[in-house]
Amino acid sequence: MEIKQGQLTTSWGAPVGDNQNSMTAGSRGPTLIQDVHLLEKLAHFNRERVPERVVHAKGAGAHGYFEVTHDLSSYTKAGFLSKIGQRTPVFVRFSTVAGELGSADTVRDPRGFAVKFYTEEGNYDLVGNNTPVFFIRDAIKFPDFIHTQKRHPQTHLKNATAVWDFWSLSPESLHQVSILMSDRGIPATLRHMHGYGSHTFKWVNADGHAVWVKYHFRTEQGVRNLDVELAAKLAGNNPDYHTEDLFQAIANENFPAWKLYVQMMPLEDANTYRFDPFDVTKVWSQKDYPLIEVGRMVLDRNPANYFAEVEQATFSPGAFVPGIEASPDKMLQGRLFAYADAHRYRVGTNHHTLPINKPVVEVNNNMRDGQMRTDRNGGTSVYYEPNSYGGATESTAHKTTSFEVSGSADSVPYDHNDHYTQPGDLYRLLGLEERQRLVNNIVNAMKPVEKDEIKLRQIAHFYKADPEWGQAVAEGLGLRDVELA
Ligand code: HEM
Repeated sequence: MEIKQGQLTTSWGAPVGDNQNSMTAGSRGPTLIQDVHLLEKLAHFNRERVPERVVHAKGAGAHGYFEVTHDLSSYTKAGFLSKIGQRTPVFVRFSTVAGELGSADTVRDPRGFAVKFYTEEGNYDLVGNNTPVFFIRDAIKFPDFIHTQKRHPQTHLKNATAVWDFWSLSPESLHQVSILMSDRGIPATLRHMHGYGSHTFKWVNADGHAVWVKYHFRTEQGVRNLDVELAAKLAGNNPDYHTEDLFQAIANENFPAWKLYVQMMPLEDANTYRFDPFDVTKVWSQKDYPLIEVGRMVLDRNPANYFAEVEQATFSPGAFVPGIEASPDKMLQGRLFAYADAHRYRVGTNHHTLPINKPVVEVNNNMRDGQMRTDRNGGTSVYYEPNSYGGATESTAHKTTSFEVSGSADSVPYDHNDHYTQPGDLYRLLGLEERQRLVNNIVNAMKPVEKDEIKLRQIAHFYKADPEWGQAVAEGLGLRDVELA
C-alpha cells in the first residue's frame, strides 16, 4: 500500500484509521485488546524515559565547528589540529552537575562543558567543566562526593550538612569550593563562561615526542555572572533560562564562540614542578606555562531534536585520537572507565551507532550484535582479528606512547598536600566587594549546617588559606570567638 506524505501510521508503518477513539465494545466500552494501535501507543509512552545522567543531568547542546588558527603540529600529530584553517564539526553540551533533568539552570554549581570533535581519525571528546580544577583528586572519592551533592536518602532534600561535612574532611576541595562560592559560581549564560579540560593530557607529535597539556576555552562573549538575587528569581520564574538563552542566541544567528588555548609542559618538568602537575585540584601557573592559542570554536546550529541529540549524546574522556593521550591523573584514570560504562547503562550497548555519537569515519571494531543494533552490524565483513581474509588490521604507527613508572603498588595520595596556597592566592586576587560577596555566599550556604564542629573545621581551611578570609566567615556565622586551628 502506498503511504501518502503526512499520513499518520502505526509503528509498523501502516495507516492509522482512527487516532481519536479507541476501539470499544459498543460506545460505552469496555475497550478491546484488538486495538493494537492503542496498546502500542500506551506501551511506547511507558518507555519514553531513559535514566537521566547520574550527574550533569540537566543540559543544553548545540552543533558547530572548530577551526585551527595556529599551527601546533610540531607538538601533536592529531590530524584535526594539523593545518591552519582546518574545520572539524563539533557537538557541545553544557550542563549543571547536581540537579535532576528538570532542575533550575541558575543555581550555584559548576557547569559541564563537553565537546565532541568529529575528526577524520575518530571522535575526540573533551569532557570538561567551566572551572580549571575539581573538588577531589582521586576517583575513589567521586561517588561519596556526589552523594553529598544529591538528595538526602530520607528527606529527599538537598543537605548542606553533608556537603560541608564532606568538604571540610576533604581539604583538597578548597580550591574548587572557592571558585564555586565566588561570582563565577552562577554564570550569566552558558555563552558567558570559559571552559577547561581541567585534567592534564598528553600530546604526541609524529616523531613520538610528547608534552603535557591543559586545555582552556576562553569565551569571546566575555565572562559574565548572575547576581544571586536575580539568579534565585530566575530559578523560580524561568528554570530553563540558560537553555533558552543558548537556543535563542543561535536561532538569532548570534553565534557564541570560544578560543581554544593550551598550556604546555615539557614531560620532564612534571618530575620537578613544585607540586604534582597531574593533581586536578591545582592550576599550573600561566607565568610558568603561558596560554598558546590553538583555534576557535563556534556554535551555529541548534539541535533539531532534544532527545535524539542532547539526551542521547555520550561523551567519554576515554575517546582519544592519535596524538592525544591520557595522563596519570588519578581522577582522569577513573573517568576513563566511568563514562562508557554509564553510556552502556543509560543509552545502551550500541550507543556509538546513534547518529549523534557516530564517528564520521568507518568503524571497524569487530564488535557485533547487542540490543538496538541499528547499523549494518558489520554486514558480511570479517568479524575477528587476526584473520586470513583481509579484515581490518591494527596500525602499529598508532600505538600509544610508553610511560615510565616507579614505586610500589599501594593506595597512597599524591606526594604534595598543600591545599591552601592556590585558594589563598585566588582570595587575595579578588577586590574588596568580590571578597565580601564570596564570604556572604559561603556564610549563607553554611548557615543550615547542623553541627558547629563541621563549620569550624571548614572555617579553619579558609583561615589557613588566608586568615582574613577565615575570620570573615567565622564572623558571618557568629563563631568569631571560637579559637581557630
Ligand atoms: C558526566 C562520572 C569527574 C565533567 C558524568 C557522568 C558520569 C561521570 C558517570 C554521566 C555520563 C553519562 O551518563 O553520559 C565522573 C567520575 C568522575 C568525574 C567517576 C571522577 C572520577 C568529572 C570531572 C569533570 C567532569 C573532573 C570535568 C573536568 C563531566 C561532564 C559531564 C559528566 C561535563 C556531562 C557530559 C555530558 O554532557 O554528557 N560524569 N565524573 N566529571 N562529567 Fe563527570
